[in-house]
Amino acid sequence: MRNGTAKEIKLPRLGMGTWCFGGRTEHDPGNDDAGQIEALRKGIELGFRLIDTAEYYASGYAETLIGKAIAGFDRKELFITSKVWKTNVSRDGVFRAAEGTLKRLGIDCLDCYLYHQFNPAVPLEETMGALNELVAQGMTRTVGVSNFSASLMARAAACSEAPLLLNQVHANLAVREALENLSGPCREQGIVLQAWRPLRDLEPDPVCEELCRKRGITFQQLCLAWLLNQPNVAVITAMKTPRHLKETLDAAEIRLTPEEMDLLDGYPCRRPCGVPLA
Ligand SMILES: NC(=O)c1ccc[n+]([C@@H]2O[C@H](COP(=O)([O-])OP(=O)(O)OC[C@H]3O[C@@H](n4cnc5c(N)ncnc54)[C@H](OP(=O)(O)O)[C@@H]3O)[C@@H](O)[C@H]2O)c1
Repeated sequence: MRNGTAKEIKLPRLGMGTWCFGGRTEHDPGNDDAGQIEALRKGIELGFRLIDTAEYYASGYAETLIGKAIAGFDRKELFITSKVWKTNVSRDGVFRAAEGTLKRLGIDCLDCYLYHQFNPAVPLEETMGALNELVAQGMTRTVGVSNFSASLMARAAACSEAPLLLNQVHANLAVREALENLSGPCREQGIVLQAWRPLRDLEPDPVCEELCRKRGITFQQLCLAWLLNQPNVAVITAMKTPRHLKETLDAAEIRLTPEEMDLLDGYPCRRPCGVPLA
């Protein structure tokens, strides 16, 4: 079993998400399992190392698909994150959830385990304590949170012996609230801000179109690069088929100038976080 502290961990800055793999909140029997397993396997072959999932996705079936996809790859080369759903955040619930997740993934230790969405009915100390016990027992190397505001993140860090590796939040060109409120606190506390849904529901404005034309990149690559060019920001994006894998990986190599970043800061559309920060 592997163990370690957040300091020793190398978190890949760009990873593959799995929301809607295997279904939405329930397993969809008509799902294209083979196609999604193939997309994940091709992604690993091309160089992706991080896969993000949750017991909530397709009621655990996304984890089952990932288990099939990663079989045969060197486990040490991969970084697997999963999340405990808010109905399972009592001490016993966390243990049951983690055991189920590890079983479905076919691994004995996660690289990071996240508190998915805060549940105020359970004391934060209880949940963070349970996550820390999982670290001590070698069931996850690190822990983190998701959709946590700056103040809740600070409270979670204060009652966690293991450092928080990341706070996973809704962030993209149009959804700025988490970037505006959390970038500073995350940097100060050594916690990575990991952006979820970097692409969905975004449309290019004329400024983006011109930047893409000049650089010969797609709008989606520009959106990913805008996030990845910010300090201490990591990104996960979902690709259900292999067609976008290479293009997405290439986006990690794009270096935007300060002038280009300024232009993108002026992107006109603004939306609130899809999951409000707790
Ligand atoms: N912590 C949380 O509460 C939370 C909430 C939501 C999501 N997440 C995580 O964040 C991940 C990403 O979010 P998301 O899946 O909602 O949205 P997303 O990654 O912003 O968008 C996925 C969509 O973008 C397309 N796409 C990906 N790369 C592309 C490219 N290079 N060019 C053009 N289109 C591209 C995909 O198409 P194809 O499938 O056709 O490639 C898919 O339709 C999730 O999968 C999940 O792991 C976490």
